[in-house]
Amino acid sequence: MTMHTRTHKQVDLTHTTEKMIGDRLRKYESLFKLTPEHMRRLVKAFTEALDLGLAKPKQVVPMEPTFVFGWPSRQEQGDFLTLDLGGTNLRVCLVTLQGEGKFEITQSKYQLKEEQKQEDGQKLFDFCAECLKKFVDAHLTDENGGLRLKPGENLPFGFTFSYPCSQERIDHGELIRWTKGFQNPHTEGQDVAAMFRKSLERFNLPIELTALVNDTTGTLIASHYANPKSKIAVVLGTGCNAAYMEHVKNIPKIKHLGIDDNTQMASNCEWGAFDSFEHEHLPRTKYDVIVDETSSKPGEQAFEKLISGLYLGEILRLILCELIDEDVLFLGQDTSQLEIPYALDTALLSLMENDQTDALLTVIGIFAHFFALETAIEERQFFRALAHLIVVRAARLGACGIAAIVSRMDYLEEGCLVGVEGSLYNKYPGFVETVHEGLQDIFGEQGRRVLIPLNIITHHAEDGSGLGSAIIAAMTRIRLDAGLYPNL
Ligand code: BGC
Repeated sequence: MTMHTRTHKQVDLTHTTEKMIGDRLRKYESLFKLTPEHMRRLVKAFTEALDLGLAKPKQVVPMEPTFVFGWPSRQEQGDFLTLDLGGTNLRVCLVTLQGEGKFEITQSKYQLKEEQKQEDGQKLFDFCAECLKKFVDAHLTDENGGLRLKPGENLPFGFTFSYPCSQERIDHGELIRWTKGFQNPHTEGQDVAAMFRKSLERFNLPIELTALVNDTTGTLIASHYANPKSKIAVVLGTGCNAAYMEHVKNIPKIKHLGIDDNTQMASNCEWGAFDSFEHEHLPRTKYDVIVDETSSKPGEQAFEKLISGLYLGEILRLILCELIDEDVLFLGQDTSQLEIPYALDTALLSLMENDQTDALLTVIGIFAHFFALETAIEERQFFRALAHLIVVRAARLGACGIAAIVSRMDYLEEGCLVGVEGSLYNKYPGFVETVHEGLQDIFGEQGRRVLIPLNIITHHAEDGSGLGSAIIAAMTRIRLDAGLYPNL
C-alpha cells in the first residue's frame, strides 16, 4: 500500500503542484501527439504490411482469407443461429432473413466470467454450446416442448469467433493466438470449429456449424447488406481489427486454390498485429511499453494495444501511478485502489470526457467511488485532458488503418462508407469526429489543414456481427448448394 503525506489542505493544490501539473500536461501533449506527416508515414508502412500479408502466409499482419465470396445479394432467406464469442459477453441470435434486405433478430446475452477466459479451451466451447442449448430451448420450441424444426432438419449456424484464425475453408479455423486477455489452454494451433462441433455433440443440438466468421467480416457483410456503399468494416471495442472485400487476383498466397481471378473474397486483416514484435513504426511511449510487457502476450498486438478499449484506461492509470510515485498527485491519500492493474476501465474515461459540469462532478464521483480519492478541480481537469490525449491518439491511429485500406483499394475518388462496431466508436464522446479529422489530415491537402470534401465516411454498423454471421451462413449454403468451390 502506498501512503503519501499531504502537507496542504485536502483539495486545494499548492502553487507548485499546479505548476507541475501544467508542465506535465505539456509534456504528455507532445508525447501523445501524432502529426499529419507522421500519420502519412504510418499509412505507408501499414499499406506495405497489408501487401505483404496478402502475398505470403504467416505475416505479421496476416490478412486472413475468409472464404466469404463477394457481397450478399440481399435476397438471402431463412432462419440462422449465430453465437458471438469475442469479449465480455456471449451473444446468441436467431436471425430470420426475409429477402430484400429485411431481417428479424431475437437475441440473448450470457455473461462470461474472467475465470472462463483462462480455463481449458474445450470447457469454454462447452459453455458456449450450453448457452446455445438454453437459447434453443427458450426460443425454438413449440407449446409442447418439441423443437420447431422438421425431423432431421439442422439449423445453419454462424460461429462468430473474434480472434485471429487461419482458415483453410469457411467452416475451419486454426487459432493463431488468443488476444484480448483470453488464455484458454489447448486452443492455440487447434481448429476451433472442430472443437466447437465436439461441444455441440455433447448437447445433441440440431445445429450445423456452417461458417466460422470473424466479427469484422460479419460487420463488413452486414453493413453492405444495409447499405451497398459500405465497403470496409472496422471493430473498435475491447479489441480492434478491420475487414474489406479484396480481389482474389490480388491475393497471391491463395493462388494454389484455383479460385477464379475475377472473384472477390473478404479479407480479415487482423490489423491489431501491425508492427508487433519489431516495433518499428508505432509511436510507443514508455506507458505503452509497460502495458505491452505486463500483458499476457508481450510483443503481440502492438497496434491494438495503442487503440483498443481494453488498454486505454490502463495507459492513463500508469501515467497517474507515475505521478503518484513522483509525489505530484494525491499527496497524503491512500492510493492503493488506483494502483491495481487495470483498475481504471476505459468506460470511465468516456464518462470523464462526457462530464459537462464546471466542477467536473462526474470526475469527482469516479475518483471518490472507485478509488476513495479526493481531487482538486485542477487535477480533474488534468485527468480529463490526459484521457483526451490518449483517446485522440487512438482515434487518429484508427484513421491511419482505415486510410491504408482506402489507399490499397483506391477508394478515395469514388468514396465509400466504413461500417464501425464497438463501444469506443459508438460511445466515446467525440471519437467519430476525431477519426474523420484524422482522415482529413492524411488525405487533405498535404501539409495544410485545408478541408476538402472527403468521401470516406464512417458510420455505426448496428447489429453488425450477429446479422453478418447469419448472412454469411446463408451465402455459404447457397454457394455450396450451387456446387461452387465445395471444398472451401
Ligand atoms: C482480434 C480480432 C477481432 C478484434 C475485434 C482482436 O483482438 O484479434 O480477430 O476482430 O479483436 O474484436
